Amino acid sequence: MTTTQGRLDTADLTARVKGMYEEVALHPEREFHFETGRPLAERLGYPAADLDRIPAAAIDSFAGVGYFFELAAIAPGEVVLDLGSGSGTDAFLAALAAGDAGTAIGVDITDEQLAKATRLAGEAGIANAEFRKGQIEQPPVDPGSVDCVISNGVINLSPDKPAVFAAAARALKPGGRLAIADIVTAAQLPEGVTCDASLWAACIGGAMQRDRYREAIEDAGFEILELRDNDAYRFISDRADNATQKYGVTSISLLARLSEEGSR
Ligand SMILES: C[S@@+](CC[C@H](N)C(=O)[O-])C[C@H]1O[C@@H](n2cnc3c(N)ncnc32)[C@H](O)[C@@H]1O
Repeated sequence: MTTTQGRLDTADLTARVKGMYEEVALHPEREFHFETGRPLAERLGYPAADLDRIPAAAIDSFAGVGYFFELAAIAPGEVVLDLGSGSGTDAFLAALAAGDAGTAIGVDITDEQLAKATRLAGEAGIANAEFRKGQIEQPPVDPGSVDCVISNGVINLSPDKPAVFAAAARALKPGGRLAIADIVTAAQLPEGVTCDASLWAACIGGAMQRDRYREAIEDAGFEILELRDNDAYRFISDRADNATQKYGVTSISLLARLSEEGSR
């Protein structure tokens, strides 16, 4: 489906997002607007001992923006859904936390990310992590089947964030948790930035103003329990850094709980 939001062509945007994250999967050593890999993960707060337990090649393609596992508090036996799972870093950590009786389901649109995560799960014998092709606005899971939805650096990429939070709420059991890291802005971004598909694909152009982001989560039926800034995250290209300084683009981690009545 092609729609135009402002002057942003969403079909073009999807093609660019897939192109960029295909490269992150296949050539993580290349330069992007953002950092990737294990040094980034450790700086964001991922314990080295946890990273040592999952495939190193997944961490090479890690492109998250914050840490949230202490907020997610995944318990053995739980079902975890990772929206935009990339090469699998967070899904593998979630699978370890959920144990043999639990499951982590990663959803992504980029074939190369899915193929890499699936291959690495097989090679490492992580049988309770599976990866499904799909959109975070309509993840392929049964309604009310998930205990915890996680997502790292992805929701900013969606042109329809309320649809993503509504989909998370639908997937969760009543009272379920949403534990995510994402990019938000202090000030609403101008069209020059939001219509730049390359800055959008780099996790800047699509970032929502932080109060609106909170409202979109609450409107889907969640109560936000905790929200913090991740000062350790920074963009690296000059273009990205300029936009970051000017509009207060920051990474946040947050925990929200779905009401006991379930999704709205
Ligand atoms: C910044 S990367 C983060 C990947 C992973 N969460 C990590 O921390 O390494 C964004 C990922 O989201 C995927 N993605 C972007 N938009 C998506 C959408 N609408 N539906 C599903 N996946 C999407 C991309 O293919 C990419 O793998």
